[in-house]
Amino acid sequence: MEQNNSSLRIAIQKGGRLSEKTLHLLENIGLEFDNYKNRILVPCRNYDVELLLIRDDDIPEYVQDGICELGFVGHNVTAESKADVTHLRGLGFGKCRLSIAVPKRGEFSTLKDLDGRRIATSYPVLTREYFKKHDIDVKTIEISGAVEIAPTLDVADAIADIVSTGGTLKTNGLIELDTILQSEAELIKTNQPVPKHKQELIDKFLMRMGARQKAEKSRYIMMNAPSDSVDKICDIIPSLKSPTVLPLAESNMVAIHSVIPTYQFWEVMEELKSAGATGIVILPIENMIV
Ligand code: PRP
Ligand code: ZN
Repeated sequence: MEQNNSSLRIAIQKGGRLSEKTLHLLENIGLEFDNYKNRILVPCRNYDVELLLIRDDDIPEYVQDGICELGFVGHNVTAESKADVTHLRGLGFGKCRLSIAVPKRGEFSTLKDLDGRRIATSYPVLTREYFKKHDIDVKTIEISGAVEIAPTLDVADAIADIVSTGGTLKTNGLIELDTILQSEAELIKTNQPVPKHKQELIDKFLMRMGARQKAEKSRYIMMNAPSDSVDKICDIIPSLKSPTVLPLAESNMVAIHSVIPTYQFWEVMEELKSAGATGIVILPIENMIV
């Protein structure tokens, strides 16, 4: 039964790689929480939402069942769960991959070599699916942690595990053979019916997140330049709108302001300098609503 005036509920991982970044993201869109340490249900001070802090493996199912309307979780976890949820957007952090890895100095150099062998993993569903697709018969051994040690202990011949920097594989003398799945943190939504007031809260929430994500992808750029190089500079700046051009006290000089994609600014900076721009300043943007 849906209570009509209950808060929007968002599931996030309790302690772990994604939780800090997720909380940071929520704070960046203006949501304030007190005391989330040692609590499971955390109310928000200035938005009609509460956070449910749970194990990441439980998040897709909670969202599927409508206990939470939204969830922040790694795509790897959602994919393994096969939960019936809607993927709303990727979040650009928590990037990792689920990979097959084998002992570096060993007998396996191709996937086919793993035929009839034992694969240790915390991702049995995705792993079985993958080997089935490649028509290779393996025995999956489900382990919930420290999967990388399985070949050394002769519990398995190879592993399928999450790789982020690759440090863990290296330390354990393992090398990647293939990637099963690419992953990053994502926002998922329930497919259960959502009451109107909660849908409105979700829409507003997504709007704020979108503005923040856009802002993070952009920088505000300011510079001075001779008036006669404005056209040239305008050609260089791939701005969203036409740049603002302001006269300066010094004659024949102007200030140019614009917004550029973050990834482009080093490239553009060099070109701008050769076009006569000076005093180039790049600033982060807090929020961007277009
Ligand atoms: C994963 C995986 C490895 C490690 C790999 O564990 O199981 O242990 O990350 O990262 P690296 O390539 O940067 O060394 P995670 O921290 O996600 O913990 P969990 O498996 O217990 O959820
Ligand atoms: Zn986990």
